[in-house]
Amino acid sequence: MTPVDYDERIPNNVHLASDRRLQRALEGWQPKFLDWWKTLGPALPTKDVYLRTAIAVGRDGWAHFAHVPMEEYRWGIFLAEPDPERTIAFGKHKGEPAWQEVPGEHRADLMRLIVVQGDTEPASVEQQRILGNTAPSIYDLRNLFQVNVEEGRHLWAMVYLLHAYFGREGREEAEQLLKRNSGDLDAPRILGAFNEETTDWLQFFMFTYFTDRDGKYQLGTLKESSFDPLARTCEFMLKEEAHHMFVGTTGVQRTVERTAELMVEHDTKDVFQHGAIDLDVIQKYLNFQYSVSMDLFGSEQSTNAGNYFTSGLKGRWHETRRKDDHELLNDTREMSYVEDGEIKTREVPALSALNLDLRNEYTADCQNGVRRWNQALEDAGLEERLTLPHEGFNRKVGVYAGHHVSPDGRVLTDEEWSQHEDEWLPTEEDRRKVAELMVPEYEYGKFAGWIAPPLTGINDQPVEFDYVHLAEEGLA
Ligand SMILES: [Fe+2]
Ligand SMILES: [Fe+2]
Repeated sequence: MTPVDYDERIPNNVHLASDRRLQRALEGWQPKFLDWWKTLGPALPTKDVYLRTAIAVGRDGWAHFAHVPMEEYRWGIFLAEPDPERTIAFGKHKGEPAWQEVPGEHRADLMRLIVVQGDTEPASVEQQRILGNTAPSIYDLRNLFQVNVEEGRHLWAMVYLLHAYFGREGREEAEQLLKRNSGDLDAPRILGAFNEETTDWLQFFMFTYFTDRDGKYQLGTLKESSFDPLARTCEFMLKEEAHHMFVGTTGVQRTVERTAELMVEHDTKDVFQHGAIDLDVIQKYLNFQYSVSMDLFGSEQSTNAGNYFTSGLKGRWHETRRKDDHELLNDTREMSYVEDGEIKTREVPALSALNLDLRNEYTADCQNGVRRWNQALEDAGLEERLTLPHEGFNRKVGVYAGHHVSPDGRVLTDEEWSQHEDEWLPTEEDRRKVAELMVPEYEYGKFAGWIAPPLTGINDQPVEFDYVHLAEEGLA
């Protein structure tokens, strides 16, 4: 295990102290980050929060849990262990040693990939800023803040790469990462889903399930990168990301459990009147978050994605486990598209459709959560089920953009779409009804009426543990 140096102003396992220039540059960025956190980070005033902090990057026992004031969280730079023997696993450089420096010809593309990834991390913190005010429990509040501080750390991870490997341009990009803001009309975040508001906790759980999971898949491709510092950074980020997935999976699950319980108890689908969220509204939230997250994968066919692969910048999900030649020069695959009001398929070069390859891996993974949630419905004795909508539903990017596709995969006319849109996507009214249920429950061990408690607490603590100490009134 590589221990993390906590004596430094910026905790790190990259020997930052041995590079004074880099250290000074990052120490110059640090107060700007803290300003950003104060202005656009969690709005609810707290004294301290039971948070995990990375203390090593090894397989076992990498994290330490303690109550810390959030603004004193030790955001730092943690890369997974280096493998001095590591070689490139795919593309035209397959078999060559991984790069420890940025090759000149790939500099612009690599920087762009890092900036786009880096931009999503603080964006989600901004999107979730006010959720603390309506947390359904102290346990959930703690999980929200854990996700927030770690997204802040993921920003650090990308800013380190920009500062360490991309010179003055990299430092300028690092500044911009704090200047663009989610939903800002003049300087929005780069990707669409990161400019949507996170209005309530059901959306937060859907976000951590579907949108953080997109992040997981993007990191999975960068973890294969020939540029070794990027690969090692992403490998460690994926460890943290696992908790974000957990928050989403179990958050939706507990919401569904409570809904199911009330549906059975009152023999009705209308559980809003009993203080929980109707299952069809949960389905609409799912439809929305899944479809905007699918857009994050980009167009099915992309010359850029193919070039990134061939030149070794980005691999495929689980690249080294794939049983092919890892170059794909002569391979083809099937791709769906819309023509004459129908969904058809055709063969396309595999290299041209790597975004689709990644998106399909993602969809298969998303299906697992839906299965779990349906198990909760089945266990309650209900017939109703949740489903992932068709890949073409509500899409703004790729082959389905400009077409209307129903959740069950029928191509619709504009008129048919507008007749049914309100049945498939959350309406203002739906969001208002959900918002009405979002009342804070800050008593330890208690939960808002719309969500079931979890089975266990965090880090073997009881569910009713004092995970968060709120700021005392007047001191905030
Ligand atoms: Fe992240
Ligand atoms: Fe995340």
